[in-house]
Amino acid sequence: MNIEQNRSSGIVYPEVAVNLYKPKNPVEVPVVENRIATEQISPNIIRHITFDVSGTGLEGRIRSGQSVGIVPEGITEPDGKPAKVRLYSVASPSRGEDGDGKIISLTVKRVIEENPETQNLFLGLCSNYLSDLNPGDTVKMTGPNGKRFVLPENAHDFNYVFFATGTGVAPFRGMVRDLLETGFDGQMALVFGSPYNTDLLYPGEFRDLADRHQNFHYLTSISREGRRLDGSKHYVQYQLIDSREILQPIVEKDNTLIYICGLQGMELGLYQMLANEGYDEYLRISDELAGVSPLEWDRADLKKRVRPSERLFLEVY
Ligand code: FAD
Ligand code: A2P
Repeated sequence: MNIEQNRSSGIVYPEVAVNLYKPKNPVEVPVVENRIATEQISPNIIRHITFDVSGTGLEGRIRSGQSVGIVPEGITEPDGKPAKVRLYSVASPSRGEDGDGKIISLTVKRVIEENPETQNLFLGLCSNYLSDLNPGDTVKMTGPNGKRFVLPENAHDFNYVFFATGTGVAPFRGMVRDLLETGFDGQMALVFGSPYNTDLLYPGEFRDLADRHQNFHYLTSISREGRRLDGSKHYVQYQLIDSREILQPIVEKDNTLIYICGLQGMELGLYQMLANEGYDEYLRISDELAGVSPLEWDRADLKKRVRPSERLFLEVY
């Protein structure tokens, strides 16, 4: 087996299947279910869509944390060319929704925007194509994609803090279940950021898991309902301060891994807060930043001067 081990962190990187189906030879799979992923009615429309991949090369071969591509059929890009493939994180556990790797799921947010210049309504091509599908309809799927944003092969040797915004929670729905369903007895926390309480994704599932497993902590950061004492918004990174009693004992352990998924903007804020709280081991910080407060870092620093260490995994889009 082509398993690579990182000596300092002890992480054994799993061998994962990738690119079994490419955009030129996608596999056609049927939709099984398409339902709203929030518990309450929300103007943000986010759907939980399941597909039957049984009998294809994808059956049993997709790990939580990986994504698949969707080729929106019969749709053209604004330039008139056929619509290109879009990636979506898999929201199901590695054993699938069914336990046999036959049914996989995605969490898809309908992109609905108004062009500020023309006032024209813009509907994202692929997210709306997917959201409109009904059970029995088929889609062309590619993938799996992504090798690194998965749990280690020796997953039970670590503790975890997962930070998600919006649909970035999808991979963690799978990872949390992968861990808890295999008797994980370390500590883990999911910190999930949403604009309003009504936008929380799979809240009942996460609350139920937290109720049943004392080693799973579920924290939510609701950004548009109230402010922190200093006037800042409740963003996921501030839980390192506001829920210190829960997160510090986990984050400070030598064998904890941090996973971040969701909005691109969350990367900088999380790195700043980790460094500011003294959790430097999750980052590689260039000597050029010696003496500079992390709170003064900017996006340009992320390219060269602040990089994730082996213990931090990032997927932002
Ligand atoms: P597009 O049609 O591609 O439009 C995208 C943006 O382009 C719009 O928001 C708009 O700002 C701009 N735009 C394009 N054309 C116009 C126009 N004519 N007028 C005005 N604006 C325009 N998404 C999820 O919902 N769930 C996931 O789990 C998920 N996981 C992902 C994982 C990875 C690794 C990556 C890279 C992305 C992921 N995404 C996910 C994002 C997803 O791939 C798509 O980018 C997203 O669904 C938008 O695609 P779309 O075709 O609907 O929008
Ligand atoms: P807000 O939009 O109030 O500024 P969604 O994808 O469903 O819109 O949710 C994304 C969540 O992430 C929102 O609560 C959003 O807050 C929050 N958010 C936006 N920017 C950042 C950032 N830079 N760091 C952390 N969270 C962010």
